[in-house]
Amino acid sequence: MQKIRQSAERAKEILLANDRGGYTVPTAGLYPYQWNWDSIFAALGFAVFDRARAWQEIETLFDAQWADGMVPHIVFRKNDPSYFPGPGIWQSNTDPMSSGHSQPPVAASVILTLAKTGGADDIARARRLFPKLVASHRWWHDYRDPDRTGLVGIIHPWESGRDNCPDWDLGMDRIVVPDDLGPYHRRDTDHVDADERPTVQQYDRYLTIVKFGRECGWDHRKIAAEGPFFMADPGVQFTLMRGDRDLLELGNLLGEDFDAGEIEDWIALSKEGAQQMWRPDAGAFVARELRSGDLSTALTNASMLAFYADAGTPEQLAELAGHGGEILDICEYGFPSWDPRDEAFESRRYWRGPVWSVMNYMIAIGLEEHGHAAMAARLRDDCLRLPDRSGFYEYFDPMTGEGLGGPDFTWTAAIYLTLGGGRAAGDV
Ligand code: GLC
Repeated sequence: MQKIRQSAERAKEILLANDRGGYTVPTAGLYPYQWNWDSIFAALGFAVFDRARAWQEIETLFDAQWADGMVPHIVFRKNDPSYFPGPGIWQSNTDPMSSGHSQPPVAASVILTLAKTGGADDIARARRLFPKLVASHRWWHDYRDPDRTGLVGIIHPWESGRDNCPDWDLGMDRIVVPDDLGPYHRRDTDHVDADERPTVQQYDRYLTIVKFGRECGWDHRKIAAEGPFFMADPGVQFTLMRGDRDLLELGNLLGEDFDAGEIEDWIALSKEGAQQMWRPDAGAFVARELRSGDLSTALTNASMLAFYADAGTPEQLAELAGHGGEILDICEYGFPSWDPRDEAFESRRYWRGPVWSVMNYMIAIGLEEHGHAAMAARLRDDCLRLPDRSGFYEYFDPMTGEGLGGPDFTWTAAIYLTLGGGRAAGDV
């Protein structure tokens, strides 16, 4: 009990210590700016003890929304040379400066949660954000699914938020690194062991995509049509599908005057489109390389978001639940970011094996809604057990529970708080 109580206090302290005045950084040092989905999950944590601050976190992120509706993945409010690639490499030409692509659209779902559990101020603030949310969802469906296939594309592995997952190997293998990419000094390996981070070959390709975007002035029509990388991600597809449903519910809850039919069309089309990601021999929805149609090979924690999205048929979801159960039997802590039964699994390397609390949070909601309460409880419990054992690390080894990546991490602390870590002790 004592241990849990200390962790809840610590979780709150981490959010406050990572506050840079209206927005939080994911962790000091490694990630010194505001990140898109990190901030949305941070809001869930703040809401446990300071609802006004929770809303502020989301509002500052949306202050950086582009004119076309895109919410960027990093907001650079001031230059910090300890991070690479910084604003000078992205050259977004926006105010504030930002990166040039987005991240999983989780805002509508979190805002709906805050609106449903709050009072008049929560409703007023949700109302102010509502048109911005609609614009951001429209941006995904319009710019990232220009042919209306029901499948949205991502233009960079970083846009998935699952940066170096083997899912992206198919798209990354197609990228030709230009001779004039130039020398660069990555900063991530100054902070964290190289064996817990992406490789040099991967990094060259990441920067090749950024170069293409920068040189066409972040023309997203052109990037989707001709850019070096274009893949469908079960993580983005499923959070968007869930987000569309939650956006519709939010609009109705707020009594907003909006085009419900537009959102209903997105929902129907995406449900159909998601079928293009089903891989029968994996028994899961997996990433798809959009120019070739090739599918990735194994089940990930993003595949498990099918429940959250309500994607697929009852038969597909039953099969997926079976695989999920087998994988959890192998791991001491779930849910791993790559199937441990596959040879590409690496228990310590970032998105090629480790466990991430934010993914567990969403997977558990979906599992619970589909009658898999025990599996949902296991994943929620792991979000508390892991920090209790190892501290509030960025991610964890599913086999040993060792904390990896950056320490004192905002979203790990936020999920701990929102899942009730230490609340029974009344200390938050
Ligand atoms: C890494 C993660 C990404 C996260 C960012 C900041 O890039 O892959 O999902 O948003 O770090 O925490």
